[in-house]
Amino acid sequence: MLAGAVRVPGDKSISHRALMFGALATGITRIRGLLEAEDVINTAHAVTALGARAQKKGNTWEVTGRGVGGLVEPAGPLDFGNSGTGTRLMLGLIAGHPIEVKLVGDASLSRRPMGRVLNPLRQMGLEVVDNKDTLPLTVRGTDQLVPMEYVLPVPSAQVKSAILIAGLHAAGETTVVEKEATRDHTERMLRYFGAEVRTEKGAGGTRITVKGDGELEGRAVTVPGDPSSAAFLIAAAVLVPGSDVTVEGILFNPTRTGFYKTLQEMGADITLLNMREEGGEPIADVRARFSRLKGARVPPERAPSMIDEYPVLAAVAAFAEGTTRMEGLAELKVKESDRLAATAAGLAANGVEAKVEGDTLIVTGGKTVKGGGTVATHLDHRIAMAFLTLGLASERPVTVDDSRMIATSFPEFRGLMEQLGARYGAAG
Ligand code: S3P
Repeated sequence: MLAGAVRVPGDKSISHRALMFGALATGITRIRGLLEAEDVINTAHAVTALGARAQKKGNTWEVTGRGVGGLVEPAGPLDFGNSGTGTRLMLGLIAGHPIEVKLVGDASLSRRPMGRVLNPLRQMGLEVVDNKDTLPLTVRGTDQLVPMEYVLPVPSAQVKSAILIAGLHAAGETTVVEKEATRDHTERMLRYFGAEVRTEKGAGGTRITVKGDGELEGRAVTVPGDPSSAAFLIAAAVLVPGSDVTVEGILFNPTRTGFYKTLQEMGADITLLNMREEGGEPIADVRARFSRLKGARVPPERAPSMIDEYPVLAAVAAFAEGTTRMEGLAELKVKESDRLAATAAGLAANGVEAKVEGDTLIVTGGKTVKGGGTVATHLDHRIAMAFLTLGLASERPVTVDDSRMIATSFPEFRGLMEQLGARYGAAG
């Protein structure tokens, strides 16, 4: 049984953005609750290498900004480790500066598609020196970026954000049109830093327009708890008999809460407490108790609001009576690993019936899961955490081949789970 009240570390998406917008602002940005995980620390190093110092003072991170267009050429390559968000958003920043930058990353990141941001940024004026679309990559920005209107071909907040950030540096208005709503932290935070950003909903989707050649002003930012990290604790509480867990201070932005909605539809005992707004974002405490679950259909239009939660939802579905169909998962194939394949394989290795049909993942669950398998994590933190969560409730323990990657997003994962009562073997 798991029990207690805990907080999770700061939201990864908001942490990256706070560092980057702080670097582009005039004056000092003070960030409380920054996620101190490898992905975000790599972004802190990158903005420092670009001339905007990011450093920790007491429990606050301070970024000394250089103003929009004020970044300088770094002395060496920028290493983004495992982070697609760090890389793609930073390409938007670099695009607006007449500097040449080499970007590198680990084996997982070096396989991920960068064309989705490089193509629109090229249209605005970014030169891709190597003329390829995977890392390692050298790009050259310009102080003459051309504004544009771009319809997102894939529902991606990273692509949307890279273009809006580049648009900040262009003379005129840059518009991104999205057919499906993706996380809107860039829009919210740019406004908070003083940029002019308009959001207009229409029949063809949402048009987001940023006015270029403006200034950003350094601000105080408090980062709320990461709902994607909290998802593992909430899932564990729902799956382990007798559990009663509250995770406090979770970011509850509607573009991020699809997982919680789906759990409720599956019959999970989830209560939202103390809903409030802090720093322009909705926040909630979430209480979860052990529940008997039933399978559900998760519609494709919900995917962007829970895109990082499918591996752990699949673990939950293994314990739900009947079939869970998760539709519209094409984007899962280009995450830190091919999560569609890795999730199905991990379930199969632990005696759970799972199959992939096109972009749909179908899991047939029951009251019990055999477990006892070893899961290949493919340098993917969320595959590791999802299957360690499955293992808390399976008949035999689950082993993951590598748990080091958990430090890229949620270094406190094991400690918090243990605090709630979970037990891990040496390999965990
Ligand atoms: C993120 C957007 C999502 C998500 C990632 C963080 C962001 O990626 O999977 O973990 O901070 O903008 P995509 O935009 O590629 O879907």
